[in-house]
Amino acid sequence: MLVLGIESSCDETAASVCEFTDDGEKKILSSEVASQINVHRLYGGVVPEIAGRAHSEAICGVVSSALEKAGKSIGDIDVIGVTSTPGLIGALLVGVSYAKALAYSTGKPLVAVNHIKAHVAANYLCHRELKPPFVALVVSGGHTSLFRVDSYTDFKRIGRTRDDAAGEAFDKIGRVLGLYYPCGAEMDALASKGNKNAFRFPSAAIADETLDFSFSGLKTAALNTINGLKQKNLPVVPEDISASFTEAFTSSVCKKLLQAMQSENLDTVVLAGGVSANSHLRSSIAEMAEKNGYSFYVPPLSLCGDNGAMVAAQACFEYLAGNIADIHLNAMA
Ligand code: KG4
Ligand code: ZN
Repeated sequence: MLVLGIESSCDETAASVCEFTDDGEKKILSSEVASQINVHRLYGGVVPEIAGRAHSEAICGVVSSALEKAGKSIGDIDVIGVTSTPGLIGALLVGVSYAKALAYSTGKPLVAVNHIKAHVAANYLCHRELKPPFVALVVSGGHTSLFRVDSYTDFKRIGRTRDDAAGEAFDKIGRVLGLYYPCGAEMDALASKGNKNAFRFPSAAIADETLDFSFSGLKTAALNTINGLKQKNLPVVPEDISASFTEAFTSSVCKKLLQAMQSENLDTVVLAGGVSANSHLRSSIAEMAEKNGYSFYVPPLSLCGDNGAMVAAQACFEYLAGNIADIHLNAMA
């Protein structure tokens, strides 16, 4: 089965052609991403109106290029999958409208894909042996949630952030440190050179039996520390701030993840979303998993951020489960 996956939920316009065979083989034939980062950088974050316009300008070229690089024409495609939720409404609507028009004009089946499920599905593209059930931690610029995943399409949210997403905290602290949006990757590199014990920041793991997080206190503590140092004319060492913040972030996340593994009584952990590219998070979870005898899966860096291949992968599972959309499909923020 050949699936065209289309993604436009935030600031990347992406399309990919993937091939899924009956014996479980999954091949990415092409994966095109047009990033808007340079446009949004001027404003220190994603401007929704600009994102929608930039998706409109890019989408035809990105889809054509994905088909061309895969050596396929639209006639060869069996299923068209598109991210319909969650994300910025003006951005989502571009992909959804485009995919609906393409499906209608070609008579191909249309599948609506949840962006969070798609991030998790990126793991199936590179780990053939991975199968539900497992606990998934999705950490991105817009989300930080824990899920119990019982099948390729059934997700139960068991924990979530009560305020900011983890990626949002990285981006806001990075901005005050003078880094360019999105700041996560640069803070990751800075953290490797800093002292993680330079500052003691509060935990983002809520101190109760729930599996919830709160990143706003941790973010504010880091911002107040930076501002306090500046007011006293003391040097702000971005490496130390990044390392101390990353330490608080990874230990909070590992704590709730371990709690989730124990309460759900499962032995497989899956990490996904843009922040899953964080080298310190990857190694902390790998260590926690090894200590407790869990299997641990995370996508390669190329599939951590938003991309069309993950949408194609989830579209394949939704299609096989009979979840087919029609011309009335709408986007949901
Ligand atoms: O999944 P994604 O591409 O978009 C959303 O669905 O939100 O995630 C983007 C987020 C940004 O906040 C970015 O700073 C963060 O992922 N990010 C990282 C790293 N690479 C990207 N955060 C921490 N460490 C990284 N290495
Ligand atoms: Zn994402």
